[in-house]
Amino acid sequence: MNKNIWAREVADQIKKKMLVVAARSGGKIPYTTKNGVFDDWTEKNICWWTNGFWGGIMWQLYHATGQEVYKNNAIDNEVKLDRNLMLHQGMDHDSGFKWLTTAVANYRKSGNQESWNRGMLAADNLAGRFNLAGKFIRAWNDDGNGDRAGWAIIDCMMNLPLLYWAYKQTNDPRYLHIAISHADTTIEHFIREDGSVKHIVEFDPMTGEYIRSHGGQGCEDGSSWTRGQAWAIYGFVLSYIHTQNIKYLESAKKIANYYIKNIPENGLIPVDFRQPKDCKLEDSTAAAIAACGLLEIAKLMEDRENNKYYEAAIKLLQSLAKQRCNWSDDCDNILEKCTAAFHDQEHEFSIIYGDYFFIEAIWKLTGEELFIW
Ligand code: GLY
Repeated sequence: MNKNIWAREVADQIKKKMLVVAARSGGKIPYTTKNGVFDDWTEKNICWWTNGFWGGIMWQLYHATGQEVYKNNAIDNEVKLDRNLMLHQGMDHDSGFKWLTTAVANYRKSGNQESWNRGMLAADNLAGRFNLAGKFIRAWNDDGNGDRAGWAIIDCMMNLPLLYWAYKQTNDPRYLHIAISHADTTIEHFIREDGSVKHIVEFDPMTGEYIRSHGGQGCEDGSSWTRGQAWAIYGFVLSYIHTQNIKYLESAKKIANYYIKNIPENGLIPVDFRQPKDCKLEDSTAAAIAACGLLEIAKLMEDRENNKYYEAAIKLLQSLAKQRCNWSDDCDNILEKCTAAFHDQEHEFSIIYGDYFFIEAIWKLTGEELFIW
């Protein structure tokens, strides 16, 4: 089947299902499903890093369909996050994930000044996490298990677009300087020769010196956590889009080339490309996020639908649509077999950002995307 027709059919399936799901899920901030029903993190932990993705899904659907239920749910999610802005230790490096998908998306659609202000407060806080000596944005906060002031993580590449947005809003290059300094540090210390990336790098927070890497959510130190690879592909191509600096596109392509070489025959992505051979654990989120990044790289190629990045993205998305999507509207989630971290107790469940990036990737193909990043 023609790929554009295929994508339109998947988009129709998403819209049909999500209209039912959105109508019964208003007021929630979901992370996963229990027996097919979304849970709600409003009271459980309003500061959880995924708490903007429901709003993001709602804005993508509102942008594509104009149906009010989506906008109402998205605004509810955005307003609830105000409590996160005020909570002790509530703010961390994930402000892009939380406020680009909610407040900034609202501002882009409506011009709402309060939403703009939420986005700027989050951007200022993110900028304040920059370590001048090491030239990195600090990840996480201390949780009683030791000082993580020197930790930086690959995921943070996806939070930089909040700083690029703040720069464009204010014309103040401080935001830009911080974003590009962090991206440059990531090139220097995270990307390996073969194009794979590390998850966590630890610096001396006082001198800025590189200390070591950690395996983080992947299998072990030296391994290749697939969602981390995906954040890096998408994060670097976004840095290219915002700065036009070719080294970011080259980095995105280097990581993408490595990722593409490791896509299994069946198109389903393991949790870590270097997990033991007899381990079959999957992470569908890593496929959906990588597909978004690969499609952005493909758009920059001379023939945007005839290159290996586009082909790989289609393979990932078709594998998900055929084998890992739940299309029943009795079940709230779409993607199945998502995994948060290799060493977690629980694996292969639904995770809200899997659905978010799957929808975003399909919208990239149908031309219905609200550009969030
Ligand atoms: N950014 C955290 C994760 O990917 O699990």
